[in-house]
Amino acid sequence: MHASGPIPVHIAVIMDGNGRWAKKRGFPRIAGHNEGVESVRDTVEACGQLGVKHLTLYAFSTENWKRPQEEVSMLMRLLMRALRDETDKLHENNVKVDTIGDFPTLPIEVQDELTDAMTKTKLNTGLHLHLALSYSGRWDITTAIKAIAEDVRRGTLAPESIDDQLVSRYLATKNVPDPDLLIRTSGEFRISNFLLWQLAYSEIYISTSCWPDFRRKELYEAITDFQRRERRYGMVSEQLQPGKRKPNAVQRFFNNVSGS
Ligand code: FPP
Repeated sequence: MHASGPIPVHIAVIMDGNGRWAKKRGFPRIAGHNEGVESVRDTVEACGQLGVKHLTLYAFSTENWKRPQEEVSMLMRLLMRALRDETDKLHENNVKVDTIGDFPTLPIEVQDELTDAMTKTKLNTGLHLHLALSYSGRWDITTAIKAIAEDVRRGTLAPESIDDQLVSRYLATKNVPDPDLLIRTSGEFRISNFLLWQLAYSEIYISTSCWPDFRRKELYEAITDFQRRERRYGMVSEQLQPGKRKPNAVQRFFNNVSGS
């Protein structure tokens, strides 16, 4: 029996370990990325079914441009193919596709495929899927600082009105609540320049599975672990109001598995 608790509104994922997964099996790195697409499919589907509102996937970082040219090209092709193959299904499942990152730096064909997916799904009201592409937390914050400075220079923003909520509205994630849960796979304990500002109060879950092995069951384990945490936001335990608790899909899943 597992403690009941809320489903996270926003889950962010650092999908790591594709290369190691492939190496362990004597395959080329791209085989790991290919299999990683299956994990993306499973995770997106499970999040949609659980009622998670936002899922942000770190699919390609600013630093990933420094990888060998061949791997970068293969990743871009894989991304295009995944978007082309999956958009109709995502649309059927009411998923809204979006992207955060330095969009103009992506190859034009990738931009076109993303634009198609975003246009097709823009009115969907289910899971909001944010693909972080050519993204890094420092890029995000630097871009926000430049926009804030520009508005101050133009006289449309008073420096005294700059507070943390205003900064949030200048970030790529404006209008999206900060992640409740950050999942990183392959056992690494690093943020790797992901959502540096937005992860301020997120719960962090490290899975030892490499990303291609991270499927629905591992996601449920991460959410169950999250539900056991007490999020205090700098306060003390006694100040927190316990929410109304009833079993959700994750508890029902584990209850069924354990036969209780
Ligand atoms: C990290 O593993 C993974 C990536 C840099 C790319 C992730 C991309 C996908 C799963 C495929 C496309 C995504 C979508 C959204 C369809 P790594 O290569 O750093 O692994 P390693 O640390 O073991 O070398």
